[in-house]
Amino acid sequence: MSHNVADFDRWIRSDFIRLNSELEGLYLAQPDPANVDGVGTELKQTLEQQGREFCRALLAEGNTDEGFEAAFDLLGNVGFYLAACRRHGLSDPDQDRRSPQEEASALAMHIAASIGVVPRFATAHLCTHNRAIQGQYKSFTDLADERCFIDYNTKGILAFKRAAEALLKTQALGISHPITLDLLRTAEQALREVRESNAMLFRTLDPHQFFYSVRPYYKPHHVGGQVYRGANAGDFAGINVIDMLLGLCRANDPDYGRMLVEKFLYMMPEDQRILRDCMRRRSLMDDFLAAREHHGQSWYQENLAALLRLCELHGEIATQHHDQLVQNFIVGPSEAMDRKHLGQLTASGPQLQHLLASLANLRDRRAATPREDLQTRYADVATLRQSLGVDHD
Ligand code: HEM
Repeated sequence: MSHNVADFDRWIRSDFIRLNSELEGLYLAQPDPANVDGVGTELKQTLEQQGREFCRALLAEGNTDEGFEAAFDLLGNVGFYLAACRRHGLSDPDQDRRSPQEEASALAMHIAASIGVVPRFATAHLCTHNRAIQGQYKSFTDLADERCFIDYNTKGILAFKRAAEALLKTQALGISHPITLDLLRTAEQALREVRESNAMLFRTLDPHQFFYSVRPYYKPHHVGGQVYRGANAGDFAGINVIDMLLGLCRANDPDYGRMLVEKFLYMMPEDQRILRDCMRRRSLMDDFLAAREHHGQSWYQENLAALLRLCELHGEIATQHHDQLVQNFIVGPSEAMDRKHLGQLTASGPQLQHLLASLANLRDRRAATPREDLQTRYADVATLRQSLGVDHD
């Protein structure tokens, strides 16, 4: 690691966190805690200036070619800095035509283009690829609620990935293989862990702290002349691998397909490959629908029952995400917030109502809820259920 890279990393893990945390304290003490204008001006200038110096030196150093991991990690640090500038109003896509952080933007674009991802920090930087040093991983602030949020996002994402890996392995074995049952049970166990971890997050996280001091770091911002949406916990392939291999969502559904296309560059290159591969495969649900004539066989009964349990769990988790997490930590606090800040609320940019509608669509696809205006697998799940428990030959 070059000296410049090491110095920047040390700063991100120390003064950067201290400056953000002090600013959060000032914002939260105001009658309108969503306001950042005219608050902590000196702290903000220090943060912007110090970060600029590091980025200038790194930009001058150029590509030191230390491999993907090092480049991805450095991109994360630049991304943390740009996201913090956005959070403190040092950049604002509604006001600026391009990022005022020119050196950081140029550095982010150089690295991102060379490794095939977006030039901003993504969920992987915060969760699955965030190395701890003596127990401390990177974060924006030292707030307990930020740690809580990152911990449970990481737990949830890793468990989703375990489920996805097990489902991918069923592809080579087929639906009638005895070991497919083991894999479906492994996936079920992993999804139970996601459900449990989300429930813990729901019980532990403070909605006010999350809404005012954690989530603002995930807003869209400029990098160079282009605006990139914020990070969200869905930016990994596993969740969509589960959607598509179970058969609850389909890549040829235009809305779902559009979402996949949009998220590709927010994922690690390895995840991009997994997702691309998965989009070409047939779902377990379609395989069972095509094999209904074998409903009398014990493999059909056992493996299908396991698949339907998984579908149910996946729907429950999506419902839990929408009706508990999104509702409690975004919709509720936003109703109490001063209306003038509403436009800046979501990580993806679209207005809250629009975002909620698309998340509700995802929930209903995953839960196979009957909807006249949306393709869901309600009828197919019902058909398969009927074939369960039908007399064996
Ligand atoms: C996406 C809220 C925790 C998984 C989103 C989005 C919102 C949201 C609003 C839409 C992205 C956007 O803003 O543009 C929340 C809140 C959470 C939370 C308020 C807790 C306080 C989690 C956790 C997981 C998760 C723990 C599990 C790994 C996802 C996924 C997506 C997503 C997979 C992408 C859309 C999808 O495929 O469902 N979340 N989230 N979220 N979140 Fe969460």
